[in-house]
Amino acid sequence: MLSPASRPYIAASVPVLREHGLTISRLFYQQLFEAHPELTELFNMGNQANGAQQQSLASAVFAYAANIDNAAALAPVLERIVQKHMAVGIAPACVI
Ligand code: HEM
Repeated sequence: MLSPASRPYIAASVPVLREHGLTISRLFYQQLFEAHPELTELFNMGNQANGAQQQSLASAVFAYAANIDNAAALAPVLERIVQKHMAVGIAPACVI
């Protein structure tokens, strides 16, 4: 559950994510694979090479921040992400 104190930060992140979300997700994956090269076995590196994964993460994070009070808008985004993670065997314990 989000605390009310986090809401201003989420609202302030929306324009930043709109402009820089893709740069952030590119850096995120670059640093993730540098720190954990074993994860290149898990991810589809074709989707890294053509930018699809970075775009997908940037879009998902932006959608979440921009629709923080609109669960109906978020549902299809979350459904797709959950299906994807289930398909590649990512369990809740991997995230927490
Ligand atoms: C809050 C945490 C996370 C978020 C927001 C997130 C977000 C995403 C998104 C948006 C996608 C693309 C889905 C699509 O386009 O259909 C994805 C795919 C994926 N995620 Fe995550 N993820 C998270 C945590 C994790 C963790 C902890 C792992 C495991 C180390 C992981 C592994 C993967 C893999 C293997 C894919 C498939 C990528 C591919 O097709 O190459 N994710 N994730």
